[in-house]
Amino acid sequence: MSAPGGESVALSASFVVFGATGDLAHRKLYPALASLAAESQLPRRLTVIGVARTVMTDEDFATEVHNAVAKAGDGDASGRQNALEQRGVRFRYVNGSFDDDATFRGIADAVSDSEADHGGPGNALYYLATIPQMFGAVAAGLGKVGLAEEGPGIFRRLVVEKPFGNDLESARALDVALHEHFREHQVFRIDHYLAKETVQNILALRFTNTIFEPLWNRRYVDHVQITVAEQLGVEHRGTFYERSGALRDIVQNHLLQVLAITAMEPPASLGANSIRDEKVKVLRSIRPIERSDLRRRVVRGQYTGGRIEGVDVPGYREEEGVASDSAVETYLALELDIDNWRWSGVPFYLRTGKRLPRRVTEIALRYRPVPFLPLPPSAVETVEPNTMVLRIQPDEGITLEFAAKVPGARFRVREVDLDFRYGTAFEERAPEAYERVLGDAFLGDATLFIRGDEVEEAWRVVQPLIDSFEAGEPPVAFYPAGTWGPPEADALLAESYGDTWRAP
Ligand code: BG6
Repeated sequence: MSAPGGESVALSASFVVFGATGDLAHRKLYPALASLAAESQLPRRLTVIGVARTVMTDEDFATEVHNAVAKAGDGDASGRQNALEQRGVRFRYVNGSFDDDATFRGIADAVSDSEADHGGPGNALYYLATIPQMFGAVAAGLGKVGLAEEGPGIFRRLVVEKPFGNDLESARALDVALHEHFREHQVFRIDHYLAKETVQNILALRFTNTIFEPLWNRRYVDHVQITVAEQLGVEHRGTFYERSGALRDIVQNHLLQVLAITAMEPPASLGANSIRDEKVKVLRSIRPIERSDLRRRVVRGQYTGGRIEGVDVPGYREEEGVASDSAVETYLALELDIDNWRWSGVPFYLRTGKRLPRRVTEIALRYRPVPFLPLPPSAVETVEPNTMVLRIQPDEGITLEFAAKVPGARFRVREVDLDFRYGTAFEERAPEAYERVLGDAFLGDATLFIRGDEVEEAWRVVQPLIDSFEAGEPPVAFYPAGTWGPPEADALLAESYGDTWRAP
């Protein structure tokens, strides 16, 4: 929840993009920058400094950014492009590698030129849109030339993309490397799921209403299902995905963050540290999965060739950059326990997968059955357990599923829905996730970013799984693309009431 305190954006700044020619910068950052310009949410005097190995001029770089904005094409691309020009955003480009001191001297020159141009203090926002192996080197390079130092009224912030480390140990080492030059308040670790409107709405739903929170605990909830389903495969990211798998790509970050927001206690305020204090308590309360429980609580899957919406798609092992005998999971389902007073005994089922039938992210709270149903079975039509579904994407909204009397002389009940839809309830435009994170980073609002202790706790939860997966446990089960994952995943829920995954 951005800027509850109403921070205002600085008058001038440099925005330094490491990995300026890369995919993320083109697809997400530049279009987001243009949208912020159109909404007048950028510093009034802004210089974008691109850094990458490719050789090009400042003008070439400006053209690249403009082309990227035009290509993003959704919404009013030309309006956004004009906004960058109208706001007088300047472009500089520094070529060089991230382990070369000369590159950072070039950046320091560009930052001080932009300071001179702006006639204002040397605020700088550094964005690590580069490969993760370079994060430490960039922080060190900036530190060496004095670009990590803040001064009175001057900010120097480092925005770090995921993945933050590759396991618990490397995440700790990266944290140490960043903290050699930057203090924690300067580090903004991204999880773009936190910037989704509907994820933030979980806080609004839970903590600005009275009717939901009393039902949000072990007394009423039987279990919780959180689904992040994707229709896409690994696309052109096979090589990356081989090192990552669903565990590192989605579970360690997006799924655990969504779980933490769903399960956390009411915060003292909606400020960054209050929310993060509560989230980290949840992460600390997650019981690590024991080796002996692995097969009962974890299902790994990998897609084989199949059909999605009438189109034949290849199996994971046939994707570019993927080993023909790869044992990397593209699907993962887990049962987690949260050992605290609110959730003890309420399993949280998490699942994520690529090449599933639909793209859908949702959280479903399944409620306990009524203690006694005063009706014969013949009077009960399709009644599922009461369920509250928070639809994160697409078709953003909330549904409450309950039983109602079917009209007629006989007393029969059938399941019905009470539905709230963002699209029809609000007219306001929802900013795209990257627009939101970038805007907040300029503001210095860290609410939607992850604190160091949260990252560490999330790695602590998944580290036993990393170790087991490396040892081939549990083995990967296969599912055809276009299906809801391996059948083994259904067995996970067998012990819960309403013992199936919801069909989203
Ligand atoms: C990214 C993952 O973090 O999130 C991708 O690396 C995944 O593999 C993406 O496709 C999903 O994001 P969204 O916003 O499309 O749900």
